This record gives sequence, structure tokens and C-alpha cells, in this order.
Amino acid sequence: MATSNKVKKTLVLNNGNEMPAIGLGTYKSSAEQLEKAIEDAIDCGYRHFDCAWFYGNEAVIGKAIKSKINEGVVKREELFITSKLWNNFHDRKNVMPTLKETLASLNLSYIDLYLIHWPFAFKEDVSLWPVSEGKTAYSDVDYLETWAALEECVALGLVRNVGVSNFNSEQIGRVLEVAKIRPVVNQVECNPNFNQKKLIEFCKGEGIVVTAYCPLGRSENAGMPGFPEPTIYDPKVAEIAETHNKTAAQVVLNYLLTLGVCVIPKSVTKSRILENFDIFDFELSEEEVQYLDSCNKNVRVCPLTMFADHPNYPFNTEY
Ligand SMILES: NC(=O)c1ccc[n+]([C@@H]2O[C@H](COP(=O)([O-])OP(=O)(O)OC[C@H]3O[C@@H](n4cnc5c(N)ncnc54)[C@H](OP(=O)(O)O)[C@@H]3O)[C@@H](O)[C@H]2O)c1
Repeated sequence: MATSNKVKKTLVLNNGNEMPAIGLGTYKSSAEQLEKAIEDAIDCGYRHFDCAWFYGNEAVIGKAIKSKINEGVVKREELFITSKLWNNFHDRKNVMPTLKETLASLNLSYIDLYLIHWPFAFKEDVSLWPVSEGKTAYSDVDYLETWAALEECVALGLVRNVGVSNFNSEQIGRVLEVAKIRPVVNQVECNPNFNQKKLIEFCKGEGIVVTAYCPLGRSENAGMPGFPEPTIYDPKVAEIAETHNKTAAQVVLNYLLTLGVCVIPKSVTKSRILENFDIFDFELSEEEVQYLDSCNKNVRVCPLTMFADHPNYPFNTEY
């Protein structure tokens, strides 16, 4: 019997809630570009937006969302808004205030998903990216304490679903041992160069959906020394795309959906925002999926090796 590689527009979370299978990434988007990008994305049908306190642009996103709600294009309850807690605020006392800051910036009374951005914590009073401070900047707050604080935010109605980001399987296992509310999502790097099959399988077994960040391999960095060449520039992927009358980016995003993950490509370019959303009307053949599987090179775009000596650095284990 032929295998179906049909992809779905919505993913069901372990608590029965639903999450759109594609969202718009918002990292490194400048304020002027981002406001227009969010508005264009809502007009073209995106309902899922991936934000973070660390990106420093949530107020712009909030402004764009408000204007589309006021125009009557979309209702709040049709949107799925994710944000993430930054590493300096893992201490229990800081979690809710930081989420409230995010809510105020986004101009929302609740968000749909809140993630612990990274499993490792920094001290509260150091810089947000404390490379020069070295180990002295590290905090020993355990992410289990942070998880309990996230659960309190759910109880208060500030967030509907909670999850993690950049957690390895052992770290997820520790959370599951104590969780009163199970994480619904683990957001990690995932693209054909680094397809995360083992972590995806582990997460599926625990009822956790993987969200793929850098799904296009962060193509703006292509050509930098040591940077993995994004698969969207692979001539064979271009050939596959031609067969389906699609682009290489659409093929890569569709391939990731066949793995059962959610994708959050970032773009501030209207034509690409439209292009990246138009990925549900074709099905890759088994051979095409196998080719994309074979692109796996186990190289990350986001290894964050500068923090590799932190006790909770997640990438020292296989998956
Ligand atoms: N949890 C985490 O730790 C974490 C880490 C990294 C990223 N993220 C999230 O994941 C999102 C996506 O990752 P990313 O932004 O790093 O990388 P990405 O989505 O893989 O790549 C974004 C780059 O690809 C370009 N692009 C978009 N669509 C394209 C297309 N159809 N054809 C060719 N190029 C295209 C964009 O350019 P233009 O914008 O100029 O169009 C941008 O330069 C982020 O924005 C963020 O929301 C989370």
C-alpha cells in the first residue's frame, strides 16, 4: 500500500487544544518591517505567530494584531499567539511578571502558548546575552521551578498552553516526572540539515508536538564560514519543486510537515509570506521524502556553543 504524505493544517495538542501547523516567525524582524509583515500575514490567512520577550518586538506585533482585530479581519479567539520566557527570568518570582510584560506589549489578556525559551538560566542582573560575563552570569535555578511557575500562570488564565523550547529528551523527562500540566510543545531547530528524527519520535511518544524553528535553515546566513548550506539552495530540491510547480522553500516546509511537526518560517517579505503559507495542496512522493531525509547532516544553525559549559546546556547529549 502506498504511504500517504498528505499534510495537515492543524495539529492537536495533548490537552485537546489545536495549534495551526504553520506560524510566522518574528525573530530579527525590524519594527517597521514587522508591523506590515504581521498585517500581511493575517490578511493572507496566518493565525499563528511565534513571538518571544527576547526578540524585543512584541509591542509592534501587538499593534498590528490590534489593527487587524479592529478592522474586523480576525477575532482574538481565532489567533494562536506564542511567547517565550527569557533565560534571565527563570526564578519563580520573575515568571509571572515577565509574562505580564509580554501580555502588556502584545496588548492581550492571555496568550495561547508560553514556552521556557532555553533550559539554562542566567542571573537576573546580567546582560541578556552574557557571553563576556562567562560562568559567573549563570544561575542555578532549576527549570523545574520555572515549570511550576508556568503552571501557576495557566491557573490564572494568563496562558492557555505551556511548553518548552530547546529541551533535550532527558530534560523533558525530568519535567514530565513532576508536571501537573504536561508540556504540549517542544520548540527546537528542525530543518532538512538537522531533521531531529530521534527527538521528534521521543516527543511523539510523550504526546508532545515539536515546533520546527529555523525551518528554512535561516537562509540569510548562507555562505558564512562554517554555516550549513540551507537545503532550499540544493539543486535536487529545486528539481523536486519544479515537479510540483512549487518553490524549494515550499518543498522544505511541506517535508517538515510530513514529519508531524509545526513550522514557523520567518519572513518580512510579502511574496514569501504568501509563498510559505501555500504548502498544503501537494504531496511529496516517498522517494522525494527519502531524498530530503538523506539531507540530514546533524549540523545546527543555533548551537549556542558559547553557553556549552552551562550545566543545563541541552546539546551535549545525542537528542
Ligand atoms: N526557540 C528558539 O530558541 C528559536 C531560535 C531561533 C528561531 N526561533 C523562531 O523560529 C523562527 C524562524 O527561524 P529563523 O527566523 O531563525 O529562520 P528561518 O525561518 O529558517 O529563515 C528566515 C530567513 O529566510 C528568509 N526566507 C523566508 N521565506 C523564504 C523563502 N520562501 N525563500 C527564501 N528565503 C526565505 C527570510 O528572509 P526575509 O524575512 O527577508 O523574507 C529570512 O532571512 C524565528 O523567526 C523565531 O520566531 C526560535
